Amino acid sequence: MVDYDALLAAATTARERAYVPYSRFKVGAALLGASGTVYPGCNIENAAYPVCLCAERSACAGAWSGGETEFVALAVVADTDAPVSPCGMCRQFLFELAPDMPVLLANLAGAALRTTPRELLPGGFTKADVLK
Ligand code: THU
Repeated sequence: MVDYDALLAAATTARERAYVPYSRFKVGAALLGASGTVYPGCNIENAAYPVCLCAERSACAGAWSGGETEFVALAVVADTDAPVSPCGMCRQFLFELAPDMPVLLANLAGAALRTTPRELLPGGFTKADVLK
């Protein structure tokens, strides 16, 4: 069973480490791997704006490069009015690695919703499209 409160707490802690000198908009993520390890992620911006890395992809990259390839759940949090909405690039990125993983989207006020990458990206581009 996933402890979503703990996962959200880890995402909230990771959010504080965001490097956001341009947008000032901090996002935190926490990705639970099948091993039980929780991988934090935060957004990391760049003077060349398109180079910015989102919190979701930051968490995935840390996990995958640490040897974790099976994912159980992800929490994402930001100071938005509604639960934070992942960008299109992150939706595609998550869809590739864990299309049916539960994703908890939250804001700092306590609003949250549970979804999956497949729900977030209907008709997503897949490995099967490339390797046919
Ligand atoms: N951002 C994320 O890290 N994740 C999201 O789900 C939405 C947007 C970041 C990118 C950029 O650093 C800042 O938020 C403003 O767009």
